Amino acid sequence: MTRTTTDVRWAWLGALGCFILAGLTGALFRFGMLYGLPEGLQFGNVRHAHSHRMYFSWVTPALMALIVAWLPRQTGRPVGRGYGLVIAAALLLGLLAYPFFLLYGYSLAQVGEKRLPLSMMASALCGLPWYAFMILYWRDTRRAARPLPLLLWDAALAAVVLASLGGVGRMAVAMLRVPDLFWGEAMVQLFLNLFADGWFIFGVLGLAYAAHPSAGRPHLRWTTWLIFLALPFAALLGVPSSLTPEVLRPLASVGAFVVGAGLLVHLAALWPAVVAAWRIPLAFLGLKAVGELAASIPMVATWAEGAGLRIPYLHWLLLGFVSIGLVVAAGEVWGWRFVRGWRWYVAGILLLQVSLIPLTGLWPAAWVGRWSLALAAWATLAPIAGAIILAYSAWATPGVGLRRLVRQPESV
Ligand code: HEM
Repeated sequence: MTRTTTDVRWAWLGALGCFILAGLTGALFRFGMLYGLPEGLQFGNVRHAHSHRMYFSWVTPALMALIVAWLPRQTGRPVGRGYGLVIAAALLLGLLAYPFFLLYGYSLAQVGEKRLPLSMMASALCGLPWYAFMILYWRDTRRAARPLPLLLWDAALAAVVLASLGGVGRMAVAMLRVPDLFWGEAMVQLFLNLFADGWFIFGVLGLAYAAHPSAGRPHLRWTTWLIFLALPFAALLGVPSSLTPEVLRPLASVGAFVVGAGLLVHLAALWPAVVAAWRIPLAFLGLKAVGELAASIPMVATWAEGAGLRIPYLHWLLLGFVSIGLVVAAGEVWGWRFVRGWRWYVAGILLLQVSLIPLTGLWPAAWVGRWSLALAAWATLAPIAGAIILAYSAWATPGVGLRRLVRQPESV
């Protein structure tokens, strides 16, 4: 195992716990489609509770912890204090927001006489640790040279800033009661796209290059910033085409093309240089990149939407590349013993991805039945079981269990 000066491995356990909670929420959605949801819950709200926890409480704290673990070797100096507190806050605030999303989604909650946007308020709080993390990262990396991993993490954090502007823009559109529905939807997509395609993809790519510096090439620097510039335009592809002004549609296509092509350039650089375990998430990144390229052709984008490919496409990236990538990166920096059983997690994710195919238009309609819903429901349990195995492995690693968490959450 490679030693680091700040030990935030306990945060991995917290993030995995949130993956299990968010995964169970996804399972509730799928079993709800078979047997109905418990009284008081609605599908839209369950979906929001699932996706928000996965974004803010699984990927975000896990990525922060892994970046911190790699920083000393990128900058050549130890990291300062404060990261443990920030990551703990991200985990706790995420948990606080969970019940509000589950019960109310984005709608107002009745509190006594008042109707309050509790989930929005909790979500805004969730953003505070992101900015605190940026300040610490800036403190520890300013005046350092910018090898490719640092440049990718710079871009990742810049994407978080842009994404939160989308969030603020969404609130502004609501408060100003802008009548054109396009603006509200564009702000939501700006937020989602920059968070997933910016923060997550650049963040995980940075981890891959940190472990495999021989993959770094000068052209990857400008490729990264080109993708970054294209992301806000590519985000427009997520807005229903009926709402998007004619003049913006070609821009959205060009944006998606640049993002797809840029990701393939990164893929080509990393593939020959990485250990075999990285090839699984990279293959999913390839699928995402080809999907993005295909979606830049308007006819293909319309067909894919109609064929119900959105949910599988999202999970190729979020589970296939991002979640497996985080686990591989954890194995590389904290030792494979720490993620013992990681292959079960990968197998669970592959099973879940396969189970989604019969729910799409790619599967012949004559073969669809209640069994396809049942398969998709039971398959949700596979990655959750994988995550439980991972959590046990981390827990059993000396120095990571509860005693470590309670005594000294900050540094070794
Ligand atoms: C155990 C693993 C997972 C399971 C069981 C799961 C399950 C689900 C289900 C059932 C849906 C709703 C599908 C529908 O609307 O038809 C969904 C949507 C979604 N999931 Fe997952 N998922 C998992 C992992 C993830 C991860 C790791 C992320 C992000 C990091 C994620 C992000 C999303 C997003 C963004 C949506 C769409 C939300 C929306 O349309 O508002 N999921 N997932």
